[in-house]
This record gives sequence, C-alpha cells and structure tokens, in this order.
Amino acid sequence: MTELRVVDVAEEQLDSVWQVRIRSFGPGGDREKWKENARRFVDDRRILGVVDGDELVAAARIWPFEQWWGGRRVPMGGVAGVVVAPEYRGRGVGSLLMRGVLQRCVEKGYPLTGLYPATTVLYRHLGYEFAGSRYKFSFQAADLRTLGGRGTAVRRAGVADADRFLELASKAHEDRRSNGPLIWPRSEIESWLEDEDMFAYVAEDGFVVYNWSDGALSVDELIAGSEETARALWATVGSGSSIAKTVHAYCPPYDPIHLLAEHEAEGDTRINHWMLRLIDAPAALAGRGYPDGAVLEVDLRIDDPELPANTGDWHLSITGGGAELKPAEPSADALRVGPRGLAALYAGTPAAVLRGAGLITGGVGLDPTLDLAFGGPAPYMLDYF
Ligand SMILES: CC(C)(COP(=O)(O)OP(=O)(O)OC[C@H]1O[C@@H](n2cnc3c(N)ncnc32)[C@H](O)[C@@H]1OP(=O)(O)O)[C@@H](O)C(=O)NCCC(=O)NCCS
Repeated sequence: MTELRVVDVAEEQLDSVWQVRIRSFGPGGDREKWKENARRFVDDRRILGVVDGDELVAAARIWPFEQWWGGRRVPMGGVAGVVVAPEYRGRGVGSLLMRGVLQRCVEKGYPLTGLYPATTVLYRHLGYEFAGSRYKFSFQAADLRTLGGRGTAVRRAGVADADRFLELASKAHEDRRSNGPLIWPRSEIESWLEDEDMFAYVAEDGFVVYNWSDGALSVDELIAGSEETARALWATVGSGSSIAKTVHAYCPPYDPIHLLAEHEAEGDTRINHWMLRLIDAPAALAGRGYPDGAVLEVDLRIDDPELPANTGDWHLSITGGGAELKPAEPSADALRVGPRGLAALYAGTPAAVLRGAGLITGGVGLDPTLDLAFGGPAPYMLDYF
C-alpha cells in the first residue's frame, strides 16, 4: 500500500467507482445511467475518491442542495454514495475520504452538509449528528378519492412547469417555516417532470407528483396552498382506487392530509433518519430563519476539531427572525458546544436533551430561550439521496 490520497474522481475512474459501489451496496442498477449522472458530479468537482497509487479504493459525492430551515433556504452539500473497497475498510480510509468531503464543502461555500448514515460512527467522529427524519404514510385510496375539491382546476404538468413547482414549494415552506425539506437542482426537477412514469399535476396554488409502486400509488410530493387544493390533489391521486387500494405518501407527520383523511394512516412511518453538520457556523446561523418573537443574546464557545474556522469564542444574537454570529472575548458563562451539539441545536433538538447527552454545557438558564429560538416544526425530508 502506497500513501493514500484524496483526489477528484476523473471520468475514466467512474468504472472503478462503480466496482466499489457494487461491492458496497450490492449488484443492480443501470451502470450507463449511473455513469451519465456521475459525469455531472465529475464536471463540477463534486465526486471525490481515495487512491492507493493508481487504484481507486473509495468514493463519495456531494449533491448541491438547498435546505429549508426556519422557512429560509440554506445551501447544503448532500453527501451520498460513500463507499470504501472491502479490502481497505477498517483502517481510516472512510474518515480520510470524509475529511476531503468536508473540505470540498468549505471550498464550495455550503454552510451546511447533510447525509443519510448507514453507520453513525464514522460521521459522528467528524461532527455530524441526527437532525431529522424521512416519513412514509399509507392511506386508503378510497378515503382520498372522496376528499372533494371538484371546484378546483387541476391540469397535467410538464417540464415547463418546473419554475412554478419551485415557486409553490417555496411559498408553502416559507408559510410553514419548514425545517429540513430539500430543494433539488432544477435539472433534476426537469428530469422528473419529463419522466413518463411520474405523474405530475398542478393547480393554481399547488401540485402533486406521484407514481406507481408495487401495485400501489406513491406520492413523492404534494404541496397545497389551500384546503380546496389539498382536497383536489389528493382526490386526483385517490381516483386510482379501483386498481390501487393504498396510496403511500412521503410527507411530514403534521401535513394537513392527516387532518383531512377519514382513516388514520397506517404503517411504520419513520423510515430514515438523517444527519446534519455545520460547515460554516456564521453563515449557517445567519442563513436560517427564526421565530419572529425569539430574542437571544448568548456567548458561545465552539470547539470544532475538523473545521478550525468554526472554533473560537463567539457571540450569537438572534432577533427579528434573523441571527448574527460574531467573534467575541472568551466568557466563563459561555454555552459550550462541539459540532455535533451545534448541528442538533440548529435542528431544534431541545437544549435539555442536548445537555442530557453531554452535547452542550454552560450557558446556565438559557435553555427555554434556546428552545424558543431554534424550535419549530420537526425537521423532515421527503427524499432519499
Ligand atoms: C462505512 C464505510 C464507508 C466505512 O469505511 P472505513 O474505511 O471502514 O471507515 P474508517 O476505517 O475510517 O472508520 C471510521 C470509524 O467508523 C467505524 N466504522 C466503520 N465501519 C463501521 C461499521 N460498519 N459499523 C460500525 N462502525 C463502523 C470505525 O470503527 C471507526 O471508528 P473508530 O475510530 O471509533 O474505530 C465502509 O465500511 C463501507 O464502504 N461500507 C459499505 C457501504 C456503506 O455502508 N457506506 C456508507 C453509506 S452512508
């Protein structure tokens, strides 16, 4: 073994990445399609590898997402496809790769990074912590069919509606002060709208995207700006009830559909848990939204061994729905936090829970104000990546 190095994966190395992937995730999938998609990551220096001499032995890629936090959008590097060749595992290659990923997120200017962990240890060591979940609910199609909304015009949507979808989703997430949902690159949204197996419909103030999945219907996203539109769009999906008895839906636990459908959704609802990390603490804290009434003045001591630019004594001011993190003099009363505690706090984990796990210390008496400032609807994502 020569010295292992983190590199940008080149197009001619994509076959080697594929080989490590099938050894990691199992066979299946369309290699050419995967390579076509991966080339976009190569072009944009968002796919990293580890090489031993000439041999590629590990890889990971970074999606250029934005994520809603407190009803505002914050750029987020979504880490996916983290794989190490079996013969190289257990000797720090995954950690080396992920350190390269963190640095690339710094270079790309993403204040946040997030991922779905297959194992938490690797990511926790590097400062990621659980921040939210992905939920899937199963409704009776017959219940949805009868929801009404007949007075609302609903039409088939196409690729030309991509901007409209983005606008409608933005409006809904601003109004709901959403935490967690992703904004995908526009090219991805266009490719979904072009896919004949995805059914997209749009109304004046809402849209739905759904598809067939194992004899049932499956809603990927439904946004409705009014009760009438929610009824109309869910009823459009439910109109398939003569063939599909069940409609699966990716949505948050507090989506209005839970209050509209006659029967409670069934199933094991939380299907994945995702992790978050702050890459650039001042930008991340300034980028998200906060409740209008929240006022917080706190000295903060951050110790971030992986990203030293975050380490230091700071003062955090939250007021008027925004925040500012500025360098400050050390304070004995400061709230002390590492990257895991900072990520979980950012995502609204109650301060008492963070203290209980040893992820924050100091800042005595601040917990109710911290909870008010960072609390809000439970963070969720609709999509796996
Ligand atoms: C998960 C994976 C990327 C780890 O790579 P690696 O090179 O073995 O990781 P490292 O040697 O840097 O290990 C870092 C830490 O994670 C721990 N770790 C690694 N794999 C682990 C596993 N499967 N279960 C529990 N802990 C694990 C290590 O013990 C180490 O912790 P320690 O320093 O406290 O001992 C690799 O096993 C892999 O490719 N697995 C298959 C694909 C996969 O699951 N990818 C992750 C997708 S999110």
